[in-house]
Amino acid sequence: MLFKPKDVQQVSNAMMNMLHTEEIEIVNNFHDAVLAKDVDKITELFEVLLYDIEDHFTTEEEMMEESQFYAAQIHKSEHDTLRKKVKDLHEKWQNTKDVDAVKTFLEGEFKSWMVLHVARWDAETAMHLGDSI
Ligand SMILES: [Fe+2]
Ligand SMILES: [Fe+2]
Repeated sequence: MLFKPKDVQQVSNAMMNMLHTEEIEIVNNFHDAVLAKDVDKITELFEVLLYDIEDHFTTEEEMMEESQFYAAQIHKSEHDTLRKKVKDLHEKWQNTKDVDAVKTFLEGEFKSWMVLHVARWDAETAMHLGDSI
């Protein structure tokens, strides 16, 4: 299990918490396939993960726009950085099927990005958006 439920903090917006719960479940399934070195499953779940990340980020960006969050651009640019890294890794996966590269990314950069991003940007955005839990 890459993420235990408590690894990613709750924020004060129910929709964002729901997006995070969904993403953690998908990433954990993907990580299980990586540990099992199941190439077909990794290929299948990579698509699911890409779709889910886009849904997660786009939903937050739309909420920020609607509520005119003052730091929307900085928050979005953090999303863009991760979008690019995941897209690059996906291209590398399609060409090389390098399971270890995916494992290293998930357990290192991806996990720490997620924990820190939620603690820093999502938590602050959620305070601005309201809708407390
Ligand atoms: Fe988020
Ligand atoms: Fe975010």
